[in-house]
Amino acid sequence: MNQLEYLKLLKLARTALEEYKNWDEEELVIDNSMMQNNTEQKKVEPNVEKINKEEINNLEKQEEAIDTITKNVQTKNAEQKLEDLKKQIIGCKKCDLGKYRLNAVFGSGDAYADIMFIGEGPGFQEDHKGQPFIGKAGDLLTKIIIAMGFTRETVYIANIVKCHPMKNPQEPELKSNDRPPTIEEMQVCQPYLDEQIKIIKPKVIVTLGASSTRALLKTDEVISSLRGKFTTYLAIPLMPTYHPAALLRNPKLKKDVWIDMQKVMALVKKKG
Ligand code: SF4
Ligand code: URA
Repeated sequence: MNQLEYLKLLKLARTALEEYKNWDEEELVIDNSMMQNNTEQKKVEPNVEKINKEEINNLEKQEEAIDTITKNVQTKNAEQKLEDLKKQIIGCKKCDLGKYRLNAVFGSGDAYADIMFIGEGPGFQEDHKGQPFIGKAGDLLTKIIIAMGFTRETVYIANIVKCHPMKNPQEPELKSNDRPPTIEEMQVCQPYLDEQIKIIKPKVIVTLGASSTRALLKTDEVISSLRGKFTTYLAIPLMPTYHPAALLRNPKLKKDVWIDMQKVMALVKKKG
């Protein structure tokens, strides 16, 4: 029997105990008199026949311990699975981006996040630090997340490709060297993102900008007509919106992003 099967068995035992606790005293008295095959229904001394309070307290403490263990096992599962996947990505050379990157950027946040934001790919800063969205666009994304009532730690942030796409890969120290990932690069890297989504199981996915939206939805549509409408990816609601870098270039788009994020917030709330 593995640990989870064992915990399931303990849960069953706990349910049975709950049932037992819910029986009222009268039922227990009748049951006892019947068991003794006694035609006269005697009132049985409570001290002898009442459920032993101390025993129940002990069992309740055990229940709490089971809950804690179950939670720990589950927590360890998602976090451990992400850690295992991260190890694969750090060593990945499946496409040419892996040859020139300084750091693979796996993603960051809560392994049980309700919302997962998916950007395009690491830029100069992200490549240097190994963290997603930490440049100017990242600062704006952080503000959006906070305005939504979350933090970077309570959501999950990732990209469609994990390594820095560069115009001139020989010069990783060059600024203004970022470029969007190609369709091929996104296709090769996408299984890693799919795995992250399956582990985290967010309530909603938000794709930021045209690259990640088009790659996941397999469409050539422009982001201005895709944004603001829910679709699904891997059976999870997906809301496309503008990339924060686009908002830095054109602040008028902020209004639309906020409309999209309000829809996301409403759905998260509805899903409880
Ligand atoms: Fe591997 Fe993705 Fe990096 Fe390409 S971009 S090397 S597929 S992790
Ligand atoms: N832009 C992205 O799409 N992703 C990052 O991680 C940083 C900037």
